[in-house]
Amino acid sequence: MSSLAGHRPSALPFAARPVTPTPDTQRTALLADPGFGRVFSDHMAVASWSAGRGWHDDGVRGLEPMTLHPAAAVLHYAQEIFEGLKAYRQPDGSVALFRPDLNAARFAHSARRLSLPELPAEAFLAAVTALVRLDSAWVPEPPATLYLRPFTVATEAFLGVRAADEARFSVLASPAGSYFAGREVGVTLWIDPELSRAAPGGTGDAKCGGNYAAGLAAQGVARAHDCDQVLFLDATEHRWLEESGTMNVLLVTAAGELVTPPLGTILDGVTRRSVLEIAGDHGLVPVERPVSVEELREGARDGAITEVFAAGTAAVISPIVRFREPGGEFAVGDGTPGPRTLALRDALVDLQFGRAPDPRGWRVPVV
Ligand SMILES: Cc1ncc(COP(=O)(O)O)c(C=O)c1O
Repeated sequence: MSSLAGHRPSALPFAARPVTPTPDTQRTALLADPGFGRVFSDHMAVASWSAGRGWHDDGVRGLEPMTLHPAAAVLHYAQEIFEGLKAYRQPDGSVALFRPDLNAARFAHSARRLSLPELPAEAFLAAVTALVRLDSAWVPEPPATLYLRPFTVATEAFLGVRAADEARFSVLASPAGSYFAGREVGVTLWIDPELSRAAPGGTGDAKCGGNYAAGLAAQGVARAHDCDQVLFLDATEHRWLEESGTMNVLLVTAAGELVTPPLGTILDGVTRRSVLEIAGDHGLVPVERPVSVEELREGARDGAITEVFAAGTAAVISPIVRFREPGGEFAVGDGTPGPRTLALRDALVDLQFGRAPDPRGWRVPVV
C-alpha cells in the first residue's frame, strides 16, 4: 500500500473537535441498510476562505446545518464544486482510500474553472483523512462503503456577478450500501437526441453542481422512456458519445480494444482512468478516441462491439446491456452483462477492498 507519508504536511491540520457520537446500537442499525446519500456520520470537515485571509478556521467538527446569507453567491450563480470518493474497509479492519490524489487534483481543476479558491492537495487529503479517522466507526463492512463528499461553495453575500471573496469548504461522510443490489442484469441507456450536458469551452470537465442541475431534465426524459440513465451526445453534432449522467462510458470491441471517448467536455473519471490503466492486465488495449452513435448502433448489431459499461465511483462498473433512442432500441451482445465487464469490475472492487495485491500503489491507508 502507498501511504500519505509521501504527501507534504498540510498547513491546514483539520484538528478534531469531537462531539458525542451516535450510540452504537443506533449507528449499527443505520449501517445495516444505509441506501445512498441519506445517512450521515457524526462529523464534518470544514475550512473557511476569504480573499483577505486565505484559508482559515479549519477543523473537524460535529455535523451541523450551514448558515448562509440569502444573498450568498452560491444560491444565485451556482458557484460551487464538489468531489466524490469512498473509504473502504479492508480485510484486517483498517480503512483505505482509493487514489484520493486524483480527486484532490480534479477538485483543484474544478476550483480554477469556477473561480473558487483552490485548496492545496495536501489540505484536501488532510481533511478527508481526519474525517475518516474520527468517524471510522461509520465505515461499513464490504460491499458497503463510506462515501465522502468534499465541496466548496461561494458564501459571500453579494448580488453582483463576479468571483466571490468568501467561500467555505466542507467534507461530509455518508455510509453507502452496495450499489449492485438488483442491478446485476445491467442497465438500459436513453440516447438523448436533443439535450446535451456540456459544450466545448464550457464546464463539462469540471465537477460543479450546475452541470448536474442541467442534466436532470435529460434524466427525466430517460426515465419517461423506461431507461435507467441518459447517454449524452456532443452538443455540436449530437453524434459523438460523451458520458452518462454520473459515469463515463467504455466499450469492449471484438478486436480486443477498450474504447472510450476522449477527455475535453467529459469528466476525467478516476474509475475511467483506473480501468484504462488495468486494461492490459485483462488482455485489452486501451484506446481514447471519438465514438459515433452510428458506430455504437452498428457495432452492437454486427458484433464489432461486444460489451459496453459505465464507470464511476458510486457503482464502480455498471454493465450497459441495451440502448433506446427515438427510432427504436438495440441490445449489446446477448443483452446480458459481458465477461470482460464483470472481470474488470471484480478486479477494481478487489483492489479497493484490499482483497488483491496493489502493485500500482492506489490504496491509501488512513486508519
Ligand atoms: C459526470 C460524471 N462523469 C463521470 C463520473 C465518474 O467519475 P469517478 O470515476 O471519478 O467517480 C462522475 C462521477 O463522479 C460524474 O459525475
